[in-house]
Amino acid sequence: MFVTIEGPEGSGKSSVTKEVVKLLEKDGETIVLTREPGGTPIAEEIRNVILDKKNTAMDPMTEALLYAASRRQHLVEKVWPLSKEGKIVISDRFLDSSLAYQGGARGLGIDKILSLNQYATDGFYPDLTLLFDLDPRIGLQRIAANNNREVNRLDLEKIDFHDNVRKTFLELAARFKDRYVVLDASKSFDEVVQDAYHAIKDRLAKCK
Ligand code: TYD
Repeated sequence: MFVTIEGPEGSGKSSVTKEVVKLLEKDGETIVLTREPGGTPIAEEIRNVILDKKNTAMDPMTEALLYAASRRQHLVEKVWPLSKEGKIVISDRFLDSSLAYQGGARGLGIDKILSLNQYATDGFYPDLTLLFDLDPRIGLQRIAANNNREVNRLDLEKIDFHDNVRKTFLELAARFKDRYVVLDASKSFDEVVQDAYHAIKDRLAKCK
């Protein structure tokens, strides 16, 4: 099973997911947690180019192509081989981040970015996508208050950009209802952990 974790900046998705992995492992599941952009050495190198704060001249389509290139490498080297071995792979961000950020917020168009990504991924989709939905104002406040979280090039975008990311994610959840579960990320940390854990358990029960 391939699960993807999506949401705006500061939605808590990465820390919640680490807790959820611990709970699933206690249940005896074998989980591999990975992330995008990155997840393999080549893909991490591409990540550094994309997120580098000095790369302010990066063209939006170049950005979209680099995310897709990093995704391809991540699939070939990691996600596909592990899935074949029957492992549950959870990726912190995947395809839908490109649809929301590059397609929606950068204005390149969801369908254009979808077809670019279908080319890069051979039309591969997650089995389950958890959307950590949150007002970006709360998310950005959380980041500002958290000294451990490094601010990247996309965090520095204006609030309109982040509002657009959220809006596009919600549109995607309506469009891809079968694989999406929307979580209210404004709830307490423990509540969101429980909601995410149960969403994955429910889908696992259906897949088995
Ligand atoms: P990261 O530091 O991993 O942020 P977060 O903790 O919010 O996941 O940085 C990833 C950034 O890249 C984040 O701002 C979202 C953005 N992104 C895209 O714009 N398109 C994509 O396809 C992906 C995977 C990420």
